[in-house]
Amino acid sequence: MSNALDGPADTAQYVIRRATVADLDWINANDEGWPVHEHGEYGKPYSLDKAWAVLIADDVQGESLGWMYVVDMRDHVTSQLLYVDPRHRRRGVARALMKHLHASYQGEIVLGAWDRALYEVWIKLGFVYEPPAEGERPGDRYGNMIRPPIR
Ligand SMILES: CC(C)(COP(=O)(O)OP(=O)(O)OC[C@H]1O[C@@H](n2cnc3c(N)ncnc32)[C@H](O)[C@@H]1OP(=O)(O)O)[C@@H](O)C(=O)NCCC(=O)NCCS
Repeated sequence: MSNALDGPADTAQYVIRRATVADLDWINANDEGWPVHEHGEYGKPYSLDKAWAVLIADDVQGESLGWMYVVDMRDHVTSQLLYVDPRHRRRGVARALMKHLHASYQGEIVLGAWDRALYEVWIKLGFVYEPPAEGERPGDRYGNMIRPPIR
């Protein structure tokens, strides 16, 4: 699927580009146990062909440092996975990926299953905390992290 994220873009010292099949071995070496497949099927929830975008942040030498998995939810997109190589954390890689997504998609961006321990990180990355509404389903009791649509 083609969208506004096509084509590489420079975000400060990092180059953000779409992942290809050649990136999957590196993506799948992540220590969170998050597998991304080439094709999605039952039991394989994350795949290149089901994602709206799988973005990679490379340094200027072409070494891959981090990646993000984004799905199209029709009226918004959800950033489901965000991973930075442990050796390269706290240097703005996640910020560069998120900045690229924010610049590329005008609609609402929601964090999927956001980690409460990283609350401050999400706020720093441009999200707004939306508390759960009265009577919300139990699964939604933590509320949402959203970047509202740009109008
Ligand atoms: C969470 C994660 C993606 C952050 O990536 P990163 O590249 O280190 O983040 P950045 O360097 O862009 O940091 C953005 C801001 O958050 C802060 N930050 C990053 N990680 C932090 C942490 N663990 N605790 C507190 N603050 C943190 C940074 O200092 C920075 O703040 P600043 O703007 O004041 O400088 C990375 O730690 C990671 O891959 N963790 C394991 C996977 C995970 O938990 N993913 C999120 C759930 S899907």
